[in-house]
Amino acid sequence: MRVVVSIGGSVLAPDLDAERVEAHAAAIETLSREGCELGVVVGGGGVAREYIATARDLGSNEVQLDQIGIDVTRVNARLLIAALGDEVDPTPARDYDESRDAMRRGDITVMGGVTPGQTTDAVAAALAEYVNADLLVYATSVDGVFSADPSAVEDAAKYDELSPTELVDVIAPMSRDAGASAPVDLLATKLIERAGMRTIVIDGTDPERVVSAVLRGEHSGTDIVPAGSGEPTYWAQR
Ligand code: UTP
Repeated sequence: MRVVVSIGGSVLAPDLDAERVEAHAAAIETLSREGCELGVVVGGGGVAREYIATARDLGSNEVQLDQIGIDVTRVNARLLIAALGDEVDPTPARDYDESRDAMRRGDITVMGGVTPGQTTDAVAAALAEYVNADLLVYATSVDGVFSADPSAVEDAAKYDELSPTELVDVIAPMSRDAGASAPVDLLATKLIERAGMRTIVIDGTDPERVVSAVLRGEHSGTDIVPAGSGEPTYWAQR
């Protein structure tokens, strides 16, 4: 089974804690031992936001700010690589080709951002399509896709399952509200829709949840299920 796991920066490194990074690396290694081919995409989190806010005060334009964000995601990618064993490509992939080549060699590949104007949510969706992944998992700080931001709206309801088109429809209005935080950004949802990519959105703060979701399809987040796609056969064999 080929899997792309997107680990939000605020999940991997809300602060610099070696034990937390090791726990995420251990989950990735477990998946690898269980036979998964793995691409991992790492976000920038609060550190990226702090750098971006500071550079904005210094007068940087939006593309320059995105470049700073990309650099931070790549530092976080290096942090995860530092905790992974020998089967990981030791350098964060700079583009999708490098990631795919690493996977072909049998290595785990870790990427951060690649190009201004997007986030690592979109990188993960594009990588998943490019390497023909069976499954894309977003390990976020929210346990799935809700009808509204659950930290702001008390009666926000969680969706257990959505089609990719329904996902776009749920996320689009959230993305229009300034400051609203969607669990997956709009561009990523459109890439998921275009690719018909089977996707799971879960709370990944406990990395063991990522293991259960990938190996057994067991989780309490949201399944994004394209029309006509059955359960990954992999799950039935376990
Ligand atoms: P993130 O993917 O962490 O952004 O990339 P985010 O979604 O804003 O962060 P979380 O998930 O809420 O914590 C950090 C920043 O890096 C730039 C963007 O500015 C993004 O906000 N970036 C990242 C790019 O410009 N291109 C990329 O491909 C990736």
